[in-house]
Amino acid sequence: MPKLREARPAAELESLKHVPKPPNMKSLAIYRWDPDNTGKKPSLQVYSLNTNDCGPMVLDALIKIKNEMDPTLTFRRSCREGICGSCAMNINGKNGLACLTKMIVDAGEETTITPLPHFYVMKDLVVDMTNFYQQYKSVEPWLKKKSPPPAGTRELLQSKRDREKLDGMYECILCACCSSSCPSYWWNPERFLGPAALLHAHRWIADSRDEYRNERLQSVEGDYKLYRCHTIRNCENACPKSLSPANQIIKIKGLMHN
Ligand code: SF4
Ligand code: SF4
Ligand code: FES
Repeated sequence: MPKLREARPAAELESLKHVPKPPNMKSLAIYRWDPDNTGKKPSLQVYSLNTNDCGPMVLDALIKIKNEMDPTLTFRRSCREGICGSCAMNINGKNGLACLTKMIVDAGEETTITPLPHFYVMKDLVVDMTNFYQQYKSVEPWLKKKSPPPAGTRELLQSKRDREKLDGMYECILCACCSSSCPSYWWNPERFLGPAALLHAHRWIADSRDEYRNERLQSVEGDYKLYRCHTIRNCENACPKSLSPANQIIKIKGLMHN
């Protein structure tokens, strides 16, 4: 019969728990710019932190830096779990959500964090979303009816099949990772509606309960508003929710003049 290993005494186990891990230092180069310090040009500031003492995500590192090293570092965040869309930024050259992006902890690898490209910077990692939200608002992202609601009910019912037609659109969290990665949007941010607003336009065009389909189609038609999309598909590569604005734009184009 094999000899059983002797259990370690409790005190020895307890002491093992407290053996400190060697630090695993990681550098983050973060874009800094302060509108109140107009004499100073934007720059990358490098922070070094011990990843053994920090959560695994890029947002964990940013929060740790802000709490423990530099309270002036400015960024947006709220939900911490990919729902609110507010922590969108560019991490090592790719747009994404800081709360869903894991830090690469290999020694020697520096993570570079910059604001969403081609948006005006307000401070550090915070960009001006005014134009983006106005474009979202311009597609009237709410249910519009011409007929009165059915008598005796306060709900507008939809078949399961019609509801499924909204999959791939209703999940959008308006983070702007797509629009900020779209070359057509870079060159015409005011005139081209951009992938996010167009995805939402189609979300309501495709809704079986909405009665303004034709008007919605007319309102997004135009050389710039819609047809600046050349199906380059940067938008779907950038989307942290795995949505494809490009495919929704193709569907809108397909509905024109039908
Ligand atoms: S597919 Fe259209 S919306 Fe998406 S990145 Fe390309 S041009 Fe922009
Ligand atoms: S489509 Fe994706 S990338 Fe674009 S705003 Fe919505 S969630 Fe963000
Ligand atoms: S903090 Fe809400 S999506 Fe990242």
